Amino acid sequence: MIKVDLTTAEKFITRTSFEQTWEACAAAHAKLMEGGAPGEEYLGWVTLPENYDREEFARIIATAQKIKSDSQVLVVVGIGGSYLGTRAIIELLQGQNHNLTQKDRPEIYFVGNSLSSNAFYELKTIIGQRDFSINVVSKSGSTTEPAVIFRLLRELAEQRYGADAHKRIYATTDAEKGALHQMALEEGYEMFTVPDDVGGRYSVLTSVGLLPLAVAGVDIENIMNGAARAMKELALGSPDNPAWQYAAARNLLYGQGKKIELLAVYEPGARFFCEWFKQLFGESEGKHGRGIFPSSIEYTADLHSIGQYLQDGERHLFETVLDFGTSENHVYVPYDTKNADALNYLSGKNLDFIKEQAFRAAVKAHADGGVPSVIVEIPGLKAESVGVLVYFFEFACGLSAYMLGVNPFDQPGVEAYKKEMFRRLGKPGHTG
Ligand code: PA5
Repeated sequence: MIKVDLTTAEKFITRTSFEQTWEACAAAHAKLMEGGAPGEEYLGWVTLPENYDREEFARIIATAQKIKSDSQVLVVVGIGGSYLGTRAIIELLQGQNHNLTQKDRPEIYFVGNSLSSNAFYELKTIIGQRDFSINVVSKSGSTTEPAVIFRLLRELAEQRYGADAHKRIYATTDAEKGALHQMALEEGYEMFTVPDDVGGRYSVLTSVGLLPLAVAGVDIENIMNGAARAMKELALGSPDNPAWQYAAARNLLYGQGKKIELLAVYEPGARFFCEWFKQLFGESEGKHGRGIFPSSIEYTADLHSIGQYLQDGERHLFETVLDFGTSENHVYVPYDTKNADALNYLSGKNLDFIKEQAFRAAVKAHADGGVPSVIVEIPGLKAESVGVLVYFFEFACGLSAYMLGVNPFDQPGVEAYKKEMFRRLGKPGHTG
């Protein structure tokens, strides 16, 4: 299970201040478990790991099998919560270069998360003459970026497959309403649902994530098993709950002016996990002039770039370091008789061991420099532990937002730019 290690943050978080947060943790915990607070209509994700639709789950596995058998490329169209978690899990488990290393399944590309002509042109080049399928994911069914890119892809599919194009299009959307839902009904696309009571950024463990993950060859049963295990353990209403400890620590640090949280990772494959984390916390907490600004940092690369700022810049930061423990792959530094690079002192040492020393050194140096670290330990990069991790951050995010006094499940602020964009684009009803 998850362990939250606060030893290096001790000089920033006293035991007394820590204990004083338990009451707030308990109140926020009750809001997640029992409702009764703003956003209560979006608590479906809390029990999802046990209450998911088994029939749809079986259909997801069968559909993934079909896509694997008739497609060389799967294009996932979605933005925000409709793709970040999926991409995060694939890259955590299979690495950033999964499309090059996983030869026994279709390549998977994520689009509809930008309005870049270059990105769309690049995708067309990648697909080339190969067979492809499309999974369009949009809970609302009307988000501009995925809707526009889906229209372009639909045209491509129709040119390639004619009247059979609809057999290669899978829509993941609301069970009853929205433009995508309507289109899927009319065109005969196979449909998967996003439960009403699960908001976009909390939806990776629904068909939103599960269908593309199954195509990727990720063991989705074990992902759900991990999430179910976390669900049971995090239901614990006491200070032993690691989600309480994490939420309490970030809340206290925020109160001391640590307004930026950097999710620090030592795995290149964790880059999109950071993106998912940033959306989850940023959209859940950043409202009414409040909220920690979620950011991320990739070590050891960033120790050689913005590491300078971490050590020496403005002291409004804290780090949450993800520690996956040792890897299953063992890589040892060889002995070299010439020793021209003077690295023989490391010969015979595992890369994991060297990384661990860099990690401990950075945590110590940053703490000495005024940047505390909260270490989240999760053993191993396996489907089950990733299920645990996803649920842990969702739960901790809900707790933290309620402790901050905001609704974790709305995002009123994302509408402001849209109004102006639609006015400029001349969208009917937005021209005034
Ligand atoms: O968390 C959210 O609700 C949002 O970030 C959505 O995931 C994002 O805007 C995409 O919305 P939709 O799935 O409706 O296209």
